Amino acid sequence: MPKILSFLLCLSFTITSFVICIDEKEKVLKISTDAATPTGSDFTYICDPVRYAKLKLDIKSFAFCDSKLPYNVRAKDLVDQMTLAEKIAQLGNNADGVARLGLPKYEWWSEALHGLSNVGPGTVFDNLVPHATSFPTVILTAASFNEKLWREIGQVVSTEARAMYNLGRSGLTFWSPTINVARDPRWGRITETPGEDPFIVGTYASNYVRGLQDVAGTEHYKDLNTRPLKVAACCKHFAAYDVDNWHGVDRYHFDARVTEQDLEESFLRPFEMCVKDGDASSVMCSYNRVNGIPSCADPKLLRETLRQEWNLHGYIVADCDSVEVMVTGHKFLNDSNEDAVAQTLKAGLDLDCGAYYPKYLGNAVNQGKVRESNIDEALQNLYIVLLRAGYFDGLPAYKALGKNDICTNRSIELATQVAREGITLLKNDGPTLPLNTATFKTLAVVGPHANSTVAMIGNYAFDPRNPGSPCRYTSPIDGFSTYGKVNYAAGCGDVKCKDASLIPPAVEAAKTADATIIVTGLDLSIEAEGLDRLDLLLPGKQTDLINQVAAAAKGPVILVLMTAGGVDISFAKTNPKIKAILWVGYPGAEGGRAIADVVFGQYNPAGRLPITWYQADYINKLPLTSMQFRPDDSQGYPGRTYKFFNGPTVFPFGFGLSYTKFNYTLNATVPSLSAKLQRFTHCHDLNYMANKTKPTCPAILVSDLQCGEYIELTLVVQNVGGKVGSEVVLVYSKPPDGITGTFLKQLIGFQRVYIAAGASQEVKFVFNGCKSLGIVDNAGNNILPFGGHTIIVGDGVASFPVQVTFHN
Ligand SMILES: *[C@@H]1O[C@H](CO)[C@@H](O)[C@H](O)[C@H]1NC(C)=O
Ligand SMILES: *[C@@H]1O[C@H](CO)[C@@H](O)[C@H](O)[C@H]1NC(C)=O
Ligand SMILES: *[C@@H]1O[C@H](CO)[C@@H](O)[C@H](O)[C@H]1NC(C)=O
Ligand SMILES: *[C@@H]1O[C@H](CO)[C@@H](O)[C@H](O)[C@H]1NC(C)=O
Ligand SMILES: *[C@@H]1O[C@H](CO)[C@@H](O)[C@H](O)[C@H]1NC(C)=O
Ligand SMILES: *[C@@H]1O[C@H](CO)[C@@H](O)[C@H](O)[C@H]1NC(C)=O
Repeated sequence: MPKILSFLLCLSFTITSFVICIDEKEKVLKISTDAATPTGSDFTYICDPVRYAKLKLDIKSFAFCDSKLPYNVRAKDLVDQMTLAEKIAQLGNNADGVARLGLPKYEWWSEALHGLSNVGPGTVFDNLVPHATSFPTVILTAASFNEKLWREIGQVVSTEARAMYNLGRSGLTFWSPTINVARDPRWGRITETPGEDPFIVGTYASNYVRGLQDVAGTEHYKDLNTRPLKVAACCKHFAAYDVDNWHGVDRYHFDARVTEQDLEESFLRPFEMCVKDGDASSVMCSYNRVNGIPSCADPKLLRETLRQEWNLHGYIVADCDSVEVMVTGHKFLNDSNEDAVAQTLKAGLDLDCGAYYPKYLGNAVNQGKVRESNIDEALQNLYIVLLRAGYFDGLPAYKALGKNDICTNRSIELATQVAREGITLLKNDGPTLPLNTATFKTLAVVGPHANSTVAMIGNYAFDPRNPGSPCRYTSPIDGFSTYGKVNYAAGCGDVKCKDASLIPPAVEAAKTADATIIVTGLDLSIEAEGLDRLDLLLPGKQTDLINQVAAAAKGPVILVLMTAGGVDISFAKTNPKIKAILWVGYPGAEGGRAIADVVFGQYNPAGRLPITWYQADYINKLPLTSMQFRPDDSQGYPGRTYKFFNGPTVFPFGFGLSYTKFNYTLNATVPSLSAKLQRFTHCHDLNYMANKTKPTCPAILVSDLQCGEYIELTLVVQNVGGKVGSEVVLVYSKPPDGITGTFLKQLIGFQRVYIAAGASQEVKFVFNGCKSLGIVDNAGNNILPFGGHTIIVGDGVASFPVQVTFHN
């Protein structure tokens, strides 16, 4: 499949084939000089009377420019003024515009996964604005377990975005964040995600989206059709997408076979939170099929679930060339091109990232396969989002933003702080860390990531073929240079570390240094979009490098791992010469500074792993392509994520050490919850193990409950060590014993608290009974089980029972 093959090459950065990428880039460059489009600082907004006068058009004849009319009326007026051909020309990511209506071209595709990016052609860097702030990749940001921080990052990114828009260098629609659960350690895109737990992923999603979208003071608007948007975010990829390319199975052909239970409980939950809690203005459907049907062609997923059940206010976009992939990859129903566009439009897909809608929708209408009214509906969904984002009228709050609001000291500091907060301490014998500058004056900083720059910003950052880069870089050797005299040796040519020839200089450096820091791990050549991992080991000779350096080192050895997915580093965990291990994700442009600050105790680490680190043999036990979370005894599959996997790990989900110690005291709990039943509520059956007595009323459907009951939990957390620091408090629930096929425990709440040495702080949680004690049964029902539930704090530091009963 040469087409798909070339497409793949490019997709890891941009669109369809390599040739089209170049085209896209040229088109974008043209946009910034084209008089009919947003250009430079003179562009304010579409319905600017001066602009219409310049275009020699009478603005009065365009009701869509009348700001006194409701958005839906204006959007309808705009669409109704277009011919069928004009309408269709607006339905690809690179929308044509309609010159006679004063509507310029618009590029819908911009990206802002962890900072502004030029991976989408809608955002362009050049001499005027060459840089933007690059935050750590999302997996490290997730490890901070800090909701407030997640929202703050979104706010800084959207401020830079709005500034770029004012300068004619960006659109207002960003296809971020990525909120697929990291179901398997081999998946290449873990770096983009907030980890393996659906509740964390959904919480991250709603916070980041609100950071990008919310205009201060309008967070609680009742009418979601008019709520202003700072910029429009997009939750992707919907749904059950997490195989990229593994042993010849790629996403353009993959059919994810998922149970309704897993769909409801794990795959859909983050998207539900993103739409309902985050009020995201867009969702992107994915390349794969779900139980036989391409997700972009599934009316159940798009029209029913997203629009009707979750009440999406916004537009649905296809992952780039998904509609084409339906025809050429999946060969779905032996569709013609016209069948495919008709099906996806009818299923609820509003916008095609690609050319299929503009190319084939005209014929599809002529052949009677789809109605023009479906096209009108899609366009209205799209224009209402642009109206909300001020594309037509401007948004005064952001009018003044410009070049000086990009790469500010504050945003660079925030990016550094995010890295510090995410960095996770996995081992600290002695304790050896933090190092002090008085004793540790000479530092050997070795390994393929010791002078890392580009690798620290991961993917969805800056496409190397286009202008644009972070505000600046601080590599690990730069960071450590501020604490001591650095002796650097790469040890390997790159992370693949094919040969051992560069190891001896690294060994020599370690022999004389007061302390040795080995910075190793993976990069986009090992785990990336379009590239799943085949094993869980450090690549090539990296293990030899670490062992040889550790054996020769004069001083303590600190291993720093730059990875997204977990690696089996059991050898280093048990090696007594390796005193400390830090996981640093891909820590962003300022990563080196954050790492050095943690090693030298300027910052006390408190990150926790957002994914399970499995042992290397995990991959032999189940294929990446099996989608289920639960163990499958018939196949010998062990189950996935902390919720279902009960076997040995290298490090468990939620693990992370500190330079201080915290002590928990349970202050107040509510030991029972009695849910009120309505007159016509009936008991729901639930499967129990044969050796357990099933309660007479095993459960109630959540949809039959008012869900107005809450349980409160108050903990007192004391910092009983000698150093100020933060603690991440994790709280789980566990359903009554004996229910078959349910999880071991599920995360229901978390808070990150900062506590001075010796001080204590009260930490209060309020849990909704249905949300926090509910489970999904094997028929896909959300139910609240009767009986003895358990609340578990942290790694079992405290646990207590909550009895659930029902009353009339
Ligand atoms: C698929 O469609 C093509 C073109 O319409 C047709 O020639 C072919 O017979 C179809 N194949 C199947 C299996 O229906
Ligand atoms: C930004 O920080 C640099 C040094 O880190 C300093 O020289 C400069 O004055 C700061 N700028 C502002 C606007 O605070
Ligand atoms: C570190 O890498 C940069 C390029 O990213 C290079 O310019 C610099 O010379 C390298 N530093 C050392 C000490 O090799
Ligand atoms: C931690 O709390 C427990 C229970 O309140 C108490 O018995 C113990 O002494 C405390 N430990 C420290 C180090 O303060
Ligand atoms: C424990 O809770 C009670 C009230 O429920 C409160 O008065 C007390 O201050 C709390 N204890 C601590 C140490 O915060
Ligand atoms: C009950 O049965 C399950 C398997 O169905 C088994 O794992 C468990 O150990 C049994 N418990 C008792 C108390 O026998």
